[in-house]
Amino acid sequence: MSKINPNPLKNIEDWEDDLLQRYPEKTSEKTKEAFRDYENSDRAAGVREFYKLNHQYQSYDFVVEKEKEFLQFNKREMSLWDAVEFLNTLVDDSDPDIELDQLQHLLQTSENIRADGHPDWFVLTGFLHDVGKVLCLFGEPQWAVVGDTFPVGCQYSDKIVHHEYFQLNPDYTNEQYQTPLGVYTQNCGLENVKMSWGHDEYLYQIVKDYLPEEALYMIRYHSFYAQHREGAYDHLLNAHDQKMFAWVNKFNPYDLYSKAPVPPDSKALRPYYEDLVAKYLPATLHF
Ligand SMILES: [Fe+2]
Ligand SMILES: [Fe+2]
Repeated sequence: MSKINPNPLKNIEDWEDDLLQRYPEKTSEKTKEAFRDYENSDRAAGVREFYKLNHQYQSYDFVVEKEKEFLQFNKREMSLWDAVEFLNTLVDDSDPDIELDQLQHLLQTSENIRADGHPDWFVLTGFLHDVGKVLCLFGEPQWAVVGDTFPVGCQYSDKIVHHEYFQLNPDYTNEQYQTPLGVYTQNCGLENVKMSWGHDEYLYQIVKDYLPEEALYMIRYHSFYAQHREGAYDHLLNAHDQKMFAWVNKFNPYDLYSKAPVPPDSKALRPYYEDLVAKYLPATLHF
């Protein structure tokens, strides 16, 4: 048997490029054509392999274990700006297609939010929303950092991308976990629901005391496509979650569609973002 590559994505952004194929801004003949090309490409094969590992290993017990490990926040103490710079070392030069580094993705997201006149905490949310990806730099495999997130401990929705791979998950044969509600109760609220582990939950836990609730929802659930795009878990959300998801929906297009070919001038923008960070966050954060 061949050895399994724990990191099948050439670049972790391939997951986000795949999202663009799944949720194109506008569906035209051209995007359909691009999608067909993509489906037959090596990168699509890497993305498929990536989801196979993600769906296979993100079990309820795995999430409990990762929470135990990372929610002690004893890995590193750093300022947000240092965290962004640290994250930016995650550039993969094996992929010549990648034009934008992590800092540029963050700045493009936040600058587009700013250009639309949204409140400053919304701009800050755009700027920091992916900082949880530093998990990769702590040695975590890609499938435990990025990818669509989903509730664990209950039935997997067929709206989750590559849901067929959930058959490989040990929870798949656990009857308690495979009813629509699983270990939860009807409309119990997401606060009571364990999500698959990754950069969303991790960053939420780091910044939860400092940002408005709307921002925290955007951070915590921005990869929960099965809900914010498909509404597949309405039976777990309560009325308050539904209200807050309007913000998650508002955030998503900035995350997905703001990849402009012209990179933002990070040097010129730095003073603005330093002030913004200082307004909401302490000098250092515990990762
Ligand atoms: Fe993200
Ligand atoms: Fe992002």
